[in-house]
Amino acid sequence: GLRKKEVNVLCLGLDNSGKTTIINQLKPANHPNHLGPLSPEWKHVSQTQAQEIVPTIGFSIEKFKSSSLSFTVFDMSGQSRYRSLWEHYYKESHAIIFVIDSSDKLRMVVTKEELDTFLNHEDIRGKRIPVLFFANKMDLQDAMSSVKVSQMLCLENIKDKPWHICASNAVRGEGLQEGLDWLQDHIK
Ligand code: GTP
Ligand code: MG
Repeated sequence: GLRKKEVNVLCLGLDNSGKTTIINQLKPANHPNHLGPLSPEWKHVSQTQAQEIVPTIGFSIEKFKSSSLSFTVFDMSGQSRYRSLWEHYYKESHAIIFVIDSSDKLRMVVTKEELDTFLNHEDIRGKRIPVLFFANKMDLQDAMSSVKVSQMLCLENIKDKPWHICASNAVRGEGLQEGLDWLQDHIK
């Protein structure tokens, strides 16, 4: 049959924002590490596993397929000492997932700095690569709305590439499908 188109997706965002939790939810249901949002009977197991997710060291690579695309996801560590690794993957990426902890008001300024550094990088600036933002941890009491997060990060200033923001709860898998559908539609 037809070979699926191969796309590289780079997953960025500060440490503890939920990148690895999101990517785990995107893995297919038969994957040993996945028991995700689309299979309610496994929800309790999925939540147990989410709690066992540990901070990423450096980065990790995950592969999965949708009906039309074959994804290679680079799950980067968000810890400050590893953020210098991010830029090495900009050139090869066909799409970006940028994850924000909506409840982490204190570090929203750091998130904006890292986002701006990313957007102004020579390998990213002017490139029409889709950027999907997850305003994650929407379940937490003091989480900001996706509109508020988008204002704080000045997303409306992004004119050179398509972008989209979704509120999500990665532990329960909520909001992820909407985001992924958008991303698929915008990958050339
Ligand atoms: P680094 O690998 O250090 O960059 O972090 P990360 O962005 O990969 O975060 P990770 O997925 O490891 O999640 C950090 C913590 O947040 C874990 O304890 C998750 O269970 C928790 N978490 C992730 N998403 C959510 C969410 O939507 N809601 C809540 N309440 N907790 C979440
Ligand atoms: Mg991680």
